[in-house]
Amino acid sequence: MTYNILLLPGDGIGPEVLEETRRVLGWYSANRNLAFATREDLVGGCAYEAHGAPATDAMMKKALAADAVLFGAVGGPKWDKLPFHQKPEQGLLRLRGDLGLFANLRPALCFEALKDASSLKPEIVSGLDILIVRELTGGVYFGKPKEITDLPDGQKRAVDTQVYTTGEIERIARVAFELARLRGNRVASADKSNVMVTGVLWREAVTRVHDKEFPDVALSHILADNCAMQLVRNPKQFDVIVTDNLFGDVLSDEAAQLTGSIGMLPSASLGAKGADGRQPALYEPIHGSAPDIAGKGLANPIATILSLAMCLRYSFGRVEDATLLEKAVERVLAEGYRTGDIMQPGMTKVGTAAMTDAILKALDKLSA
Ligand code: IPM
Ligand code: MG
Repeated sequence: MTYNILLLPGDGIGPEVLEETRRVLGWYSANRNLAFATREDLVGGCAYEAHGAPATDAMMKKALAADAVLFGAVGGPKWDKLPFHQKPEQGLLRLRGDLGLFANLRPALCFEALKDASSLKPEIVSGLDILIVRELTGGVYFGKPKEITDLPDGQKRAVDTQVYTTGEIERIARVAFELARLRGNRVASADKSNVMVTGVLWREAVTRVHDKEFPDVALSHILADNCAMQLVRNPKQFDVIVTDNLFGDVLSDEAAQLTGSIGMLPSASLGAKGADGRQPALYEPIHGSAPDIAGKGLANPIATILSLAMCLRYSFGRVEDATLLEKAVERVLAEGYRTGDIMQPGMTKVGTAAMTDAILKALDKLSA
């Protein structure tokens, strides 16, 4: 079986970190009886430069045909002044929307070797292992109307629309409950049901799915603002957090910073399984395009490499191979290899390619 992968490096450090993923793919095809056919295309600012749009129909066609999309990063100061609909980020939003990637999985895992890198006390974050399940194709990101109009008195008026249907809430709740069963069996659902009717519906729908289909999972409800506070007060109280698109955007950045290393965290965006058993999927590091260090060989490739581990696990069902890659990353950290973003006194500072060299060596050793 050959897996079809679309590589979308994008902008900034995206191309550099995806290059390292390509090397890891090479290791897996040479050593683990896995075959990949890769294609590549442009997305974001570079696609705008080449084609005048951050995502082209031709690229979308390739994405729809792929078993998985591996995505780097988009955006940069060069494109800040573009009209809203041509901005690099719109390329990513089109991929999410058109592929129906409604389930965004964002693990926030504190690596033991890096517990001192967090801005929180090590005892607060040591052993931290949270999974944020963010709804990704609904809510205020996609709701209509979304517009700026002129008022008769010369003012302007902007509207974004927060909208959810029960179906959209139920399917993301199911993803959260199913994943919780494979981990700590606890789900906290974050909403603003005290001020938003979408929150009221959210809470009702999550509760209904829980009571009917997942009574064995411990469910709690938490207001999103309180959730933000609890994340810095006592983050280890959480196992799985399920929440809407906008709250998920904010809370997942907060959770990422708890681990002290945004350059370390992967993510998966999954769609619904089709009748043919295929499930659209996109994997990306949660860090951005980091234009300040782009092209210098300094970027941390680990988030992208761990995104490939998520791809092996969720898209290809290769759990052992995924675990192997995660173990290899843990090992190089324990051995003291650090890129600049996670550098600590006494450790060995390496660049993007040398970090991957170390990971490939660890893969060799662990699989020997
Ligand atoms: C993220 C990012 C995106 C979002 C941007 C780049 C559109 O912040 O993936 O969290 O807001 O969803
Ligand atoms: Mg974000």
